[in-house]
Order: sequence, then structure tokens, then C-alpha cells
Amino acid sequence: MSIATDPSTTPAPTRQASHRTILMCKPDFFTVSYRINPWMNPENPTDTSVAVQQWQTLYDTYVGLGFDVHLIDPIAGLPDMVYSANGGFVLDGKAYGANFTYPERQPEGPAYMDWFAANGYDVSVPVEVNEGEGDFLLVGDVILAGTGFRTDTTSHAELSSIFGREVITLNLINPSFYHLDTAIAVLDPETTDGSNNIAYLESAFDEPSLAILRQRYPDAILVSEEDAAILGLNSYSDGYNVVIAAKAKGFEAQLRERGYNPIGVDLSELLLGGGGVKCCTLELRR
Ligand code: ARG
Repeated sequence: MSIATDPSTTPAPTRQASHRTILMCKPDFFTVSYRINPWMNPENPTDTSVAVQQWQTLYDTYVGLGFDVHLIDPIAGLPDMVYSANGGFVLDGKAYGANFTYPERQPEGPAYMDWFAANGYDVSVPVEVNEGEGDFLLVGDVILAGTGFRTDTTSHAELSSIFGREVITLNLINPSFYHLDTAIAVLDPETTDGSNNIAYLESAFDEPSLAILRQRYPDAILVSEEDAAILGLNSYSDGYNVVIAAKAKGFEAQLRERGYNPIGVDLSELLLGGGGVKCCTLELRR
């Protein structure tokens, strides 16, 4: 006799939050003065004080969750520095520096590397073009690595030689989802028993990459175009609490169904630069 399970009565699994240490950068000099992604329109006005207020809410949310939040000083003339995820990739006490695609952001690379060095991280100066955690996502013990718009695949090899982890290349094909962290959300960063899950936007990837994602993450949450279009996937999870764009209502419901605790934050002003929650968050792993 087989016992049928009714999905509507199957309880959501119990999720475990793990402690996080992150680096953020206050958007004191935020504006949109150049266009390096389709979200940015320099002719439209931005309000730096609104950006700061919204960012402060994100900061306070993280502090409220018990995270250890470090700050790097913003630099005048580097309006995108608020998107700290692009500042590097940090794991095992080692920091692989960023080497930005566009000249407008290139000075951010050394600024972040100086911070890593001053804070006791072993810095690897990058040879290859890469935009840090914008395109590199640690899921369990593998690193998902995006390419197509910013980060060069040659850096995927550099990354794997520095950290000795399996690096999986994924091709992004939609310019609106130009960094991997705009198309994939890591939901269970810590677990290494194979249960770690992700959420993603299918149309952001080419077929070979989709095949990899489907095979590796058969239970992934597939997010709607509507939620992705407000950078709903650009979120940050501690394994239980998932900080997401407040307007991503569908994703919020999907997360709740799976036993996560979604927390909505409005970063509409920072969306004008093409970034959301995750972009403003760089994980520091000792
Ligand atoms: N204006 C920035 C850029 O285009 C936004 C960066 C967003 N960061 C991210 N991790 N997706 O480079």
C-alpha cells in the first residue's frame, strides 16, 4: 500500500538561521551619473537622502537579525560604491579583489582591497576581470559563477585556483540581469549536505546553464518575471530570514510556503542604479 502525501497538508520544513558577518557602504555619494546597465538613466533625478534613508533601514534590519555589520567609508565620485557585493569575494579568510569591467567603477577595486587588508583578510589581487559577489555565489561548498555581461570566465579559473572549490560557470543572457545575484538568490548558504536551495529566474540563463541549474537544484523556487523585474531575487538569506524587495509579493509567498521568513525592505532609490538588497551586502567569511 502506498501512502499519498497531500502537498497542501505537508508542513514546511523547519529552517535554521546562521550568524552572518557582512560589509556595507553607506550611499553618501549615491547618484546616477553614468549608464552601465539598463536600469540607469542619468537624465532622471536621484535623491541621495532617500537612498541613505532606505539603506539605513536595510542596515537596521541586518543589525536586528543579529548580523555583524562592518562598514567601509564611501568615497566621493564613486556613486556605485554602495553596491558592496561587487567589492570582492571573501571566503576562508581570503579576499579575492574585484577588477571592474567599466572604468567608472575601477577605483572601487583597490578601495575594497585596502579595507580587506586592513581588516586582516589575505588579499588576492585579481588579474582577471570580475565583479566579486555580484557574480560569485557560494552555495554549500560550490561557487556559482556568472558571466555574459561583467565577469570574465577567465576569472572563474582564477577563483577556483585561489579557493580550491568547485566553480560552476553560468551564462547570463538578459542585460537587465547582468550580475548573477540579480538572477539567483541563495537561500541556504551554509548547509553542505546537498539540501541547500536557490531561487532563480529561468529566462535569465542560456539552455546549457539552465540544464545545470535544473539538475543541481531540482527543488529550486522559480521566480516570476514580475518579481525579478524589481530585482526581487537580489536578496539575502541567513538560512531562515530572507531579506527581499518589499514589492516582490509572489516571491514572498513562495518563501513563506517553504518555511522561510521573508522580510521586505524598500530600496526603490537604489534600484535606479540597478541594485537591490544583495548588491548592498558583501558577505565576509573567515
Ligand atoms: N550600478 C551598478 C553597476 O551597474 C549596480 C551594481 C549592482 N550590484 C550587484 N551586485 N548586482 O555596476
